Amino acid sequence: MADFKIWMNGRLVPQEQAVLPVNSAAVFYATNVFEGLRAYWNERDGEMYGFRLADHLTRLRESMKMMRFTVPYSDDDLFEAVRTVLSGNEVREDVHMHLVAYVAAPGLDATTPTGLYINPRKRPRVMEGNGLKCCVSSWTRTSDNAIPIRLKSGSNYQNGRLATLQARADGYDQPIFLNRHGQVAEGSGATFFMVRKGRIVTPTTSSDILESITRTTLIEYVCPEVLGMDVVERSIDRTELYVAEEAFFCGSGYEVTPILSIDRFPLGKGEVGPVTKRISSAYLDLVRGVDRKHPEWRTPTYKKVTL
Ligand SMILES: Cc1ncc(COP(=O)(O)O)c(C=O)c1O
Repeated sequence: MADFKIWMNGRLVPQEQAVLPVNSAAVFYATNVFEGLRAYWNERDGEMYGFRLADHLTRLRESMKMMRFTVPYSDDDLFEAVRTVLSGNEVREDVHMHLVAYVAAPGLDATTPTGLYINPRKRPRVMEGNGLKCCVSSWTRTSDNAIPIRLKSGSNYQNGRLATLQARADGYDQPIFLNRHGQVAEGSGATFFMVRKGRIVTPTTSSDILESITRTTLIEYVCPEVLGMDVVERSIDRTELYVAEEAFFCGSGYEVTPILSIDRFPLGKGEVGPVTKRISSAYLDLVRGVDRKHPEWRTPTYKKVTL
């Protein structure tokens, strides 16, 4: 890929010019909040669709509020910035983007000045066709009153990094976190779902998880309306993982990524289950606009619209 240009504080700049001061809180303490979202190319419509951009901007605002950040951009400005970064780079393929609000000043308690950049990049599907071997991590998901996962700050992701590297060192692909109550939380950067006794189950939003936009999409639309199956939101015990029929991670980056085994217990037949398969293909149809329902979730980049 020729490097895409980055939108940084109002301008499209080459990657090498998108730099931060080494003494900034952003570099030293990872004092930032961010969103990760995908935009999908629809050949028939000749359009790039940003999926649930308005919801990502709302969550970015919530993270900024919790971190006491101020940035001089309205949601409309950010919407225009996303359009600019995609159309300015003439992107006509699926991309993943990070929208990052950061603190450029030094100091642990610095809140200003803050800046913002948008970095589009290619990001392949997490798994093609196959699925993940997961383990229950011995690291605990950080709790809401310590380092809240609801707040999407780069610094929080050290928790996921520790667990992911441990999982890989132990011969697994990805960890599953338990929370401070010993119940299932989520993956390092994705929400957890399982199928148990024929029902689709996911932890509640009070389980020390990110309030995932993909999770909401599956709960509000994909599962009930495409599959005809409601999602049960409840606490999940560790041992339930071992006897689940199916499981998967979901997220803007992960999309729907099957889990084949947990702590070496195969789930179901140890292959991608039928419910996971249907959810995955329904989700991909929706985000790309093959399924025309919920057009308000697909923000066009090239056609002029308001958010
Ligand atoms: C920690 C964590 N949990 C869950 C998710 C899934 O969230 P979303 O569906 O909004 O991308 C992500 C992805 O950003 C994440 O980083």
